[in-house]
Amino acid sequence: MKISGTPYRTIWPLPTGAVRVIDQSRLPFEFVTLDLATLEDAAHAIRTMVVRGAPLIGATAAYGLALALRADASDARIAEAARVLRATRPTAVNLAWALERVRQAIGPLPEAQRAAAAFAEAGRICEEDVEQCRAIGQHGAKIIREIAAQAGRRVNVLTHCNAGWLACVDWGTALAPIYAAHDAGIEVHVWVDETRPRNQGASLTAFELGAHGVPHTVIVDNLGGHLMQHGQVDLAIVGSDRTTAAGDVCNKVGTYLKALAAHDNRVPFYAALPLSTIDWSIEDGRAIEIEARDATEVTHMSGRTESGAIERVRVVPEASAALNLAFDVTPARLVTGIITERGVCEASRAGLLKLYPERAA
Ligand code: MRU
Repeated sequence: MKISGTPYRTIWPLPTGAVRVIDQSRLPFEFVTLDLATLEDAAHAIRTMVVRGAPLIGATAAYGLALALRADASDARIAEAARVLRATRPTAVNLAWALERVRQAIGPLPEAQRAAAAFAEAGRICEEDVEQCRAIGQHGAKIIREIAAQAGRRVNVLTHCNAGWLACVDWGTALAPIYAAHDAGIEVHVWVDETRPRNQGASLTAFELGAHGVPHTVIVDNLGGHLMQHGQVDLAIVGSDRTTAAGDVCNKVGTYLKALAAHDNRVPFYAALPLSTIDWSIEDGRAIEIEARDATEVTHMSGRTESGAIERVRVVPEASAALNLAFDVTPARLVTGIITERGVCEASRAGLLKLYPERAA
């Protein structure tokens, strides 16, 4: 996608052997990049959410493993680097998936060839992610097109958190259908949940929709239900950090409440995700480990003051405890459909297996 007319991806390798990423902790006020040269750099970038979003976490972990092997590509080093990276963020399954993919690709090779092979595999993971997100966009845009044809007016889509190109390598998952529909001339407007505590909606989704010229309105997280009751939401599309084999969708905390409101108001509720987000080893979403993050993300907020300085302020009394669980699970029964790179399916084991029959075994 483009920033001020220049095409960008969220992560790309440099001729120096380092990897460059967009520092998302500085958006929307500053667009700066950061170079990752070591395993520790990559792990720190994922842990502190310089990079975030399930597919991008996976891509960064893949490059992080490659960076770790530049000086030492022994089996012990691979295992240690994978352990360090895996511990950074537990919920997004793309991380474990990407590490396993790189390990499979380099395991049989002599040590001298492993680092280069790991870089090549990380590059392939990125290319595939771009292609999958592009396909998700095409499949999802058909849903938006149908609603536009029926309604005969602008389509209002609600989304939660940031599942756009910043969360992936390019295009995005939940936002890809919106970009595809917008680019095809369908009138779309997006309700952007601010997504407390880290405000990925207000800062990142609003930033990227604005950069692409997609009309959007930022709303507080609690407004969606009211808008749905008043017919102002035609459909909701969210991303996912892990989707079970039975179609339970784990995503940014607050997604479940939106799905409940959508169900109550008969608003179609879709999750858009690539194959790498499906955890075929789990059926019940309640088995997914939910990341607990620092309570200061709840007790404090940061933003730009009128003088232009970025400042962090406390919004909770000093003596109050705060709990910061980053994700929740929306049961499959509340999900109208799952939009993947292979098409749209019912949120169920049978639905997913129709798209991925090779997983039946
Ligand atoms: O904590 P984050 O910002 O990594 O959470 C991101 C989300 O919850 C996204 O919706 C999800 O990763 C899907 S991204 C295509």
